[in-house]
Amino acid sequence: TQQVTFYEAVGGEETFRRLVHRFYQGVADDPLLRPLYPEEDLGPAEDRLRLFLIQYWGGPNTYSSQRGHPRLRMRHAPFVIGEAERDAWLRHMRDAVDELELPEELDTMLWNYLTMAAQSMVNAHT
Ligand code: HEM
Repeated sequence: TQQVTFYEAVGGEETFRRLVHRFYQGVADDPLLRPLYPEEDLGPAEDRLRLFLIQYWGGPNTYSSQRGHPRLRMRHAPFVIGEAERDAWLRHMRDAVDELELPEELDTMLWNYLTMAAQSMVNAHT
């Protein structure tokens, strides 16, 4: 039997490129989230999130070859992430997921993961 990864099922790199690009367009205009990003250019942050999600969903492991073990909670510790930041992050992500128009089952799998992951990054009360 052939094993199709989630990465392949949703359309591979192109789909993750569209998802994360659309997400960062939302972040770029967000007065709460934009100041959290240390770099003026959001391009490198976009690359890191895209490569992480590709790796998580069964695509190439380029993220870890470049960045090592994800340790995402630790890597987010420098940023104040409360409920407000989590909700803003998820709002832009929801818009980006909607634009993919995935089959319902794949949309639900992706969204369940993103909401769980965003909750796990909360490190403050805002
Ligand atoms: C990095 C904010 C949730 C994955 C970052 C950075 C910020 C940030 C400010 C640094 C930008 C950079 O890479 O230079 C937030 C906020 C969140 C959130 C406000 C709200 C809950 C998440 C979630 C994931 C994620 C849910 C994964 C599903 C990443 C990754 C990086 C990153 C992979 C780059 C880590 C590295 O290799 O250095 N995030 N994040 N973030 N975030 Fe988030």
